[in-house]
Amino acid sequence: METEHVDVQRRRILTAGGLVLAGGALAACGGAGSTTTEATTGASASGAPAAATPTTAPATTPAAGALASVSEIPVGGGVIVPEPPIVITQPTAGTFKAFTAICPHQGCLVSEVAENQIVCPCHGSLFSAEDGAVVQGPAVEGLTAASIAVQGDSIVLA
Ligand code: FES
Repeated sequence: METEHVDVQRRRILTAGGLVLAGGALAACGGAGSTTTEATTGASASGAPAAATPTTAPATTPAAGALASVSEIPVGGGVIVPEPPIVITQPTAGTFKAFTAICPHQGCLVSEVAENQIVCPCHGSLFSAEDGAVVQGPAVEGLTAASIAVQGDSIVLA
C-alpha cells in the first residue's frame, strides 16, 4: 500500500457549472459546524477575467493558511476544501458563503457546486449555495454555516 501525502491546501475540489476538477479523494467523516457567515469583496470591480462564464476556475494558489483564493471561486460555483471540510460558494459576484462540506444526511463529503447548488454525491441531496438550505432531499437538514473572512485574495477561517 502506498502512502499519499498531499498538502491539504492543494486538495480542493473546484466546481463550476457542472465541471468538476477533483484534487482529492472523498472523506466520509468529520465535523466543522460553526456560525453563520458571509464574506464579501470587490472582486467583480477588479477587472478579473473570470466574470463572464462560470465554467472554469483560474488556478490560483491561495496564501499559506488560506482555504482558497477568491479568484478560484466562480460565481454560481464553489470550492470544496476537504480538510477542514468546508464548501465555499460565491452565489453572487463578490459575496462568499461557507458551510460545512459534510452532508447532514449520512455524512458524505459534498462533491460539487453548480448553478448555485451544492451537491452531495451519495444520495443526491442538493443544498442552496446561498444559505445551505435543503433544495432536494433525502437530507432534511441544511448545511451548517461556517465562518470565513476575505483577506486580500484569500479566504480564511474567521
Ligand atoms: Fe448526502 Fe445521503 S449522505 S444525501
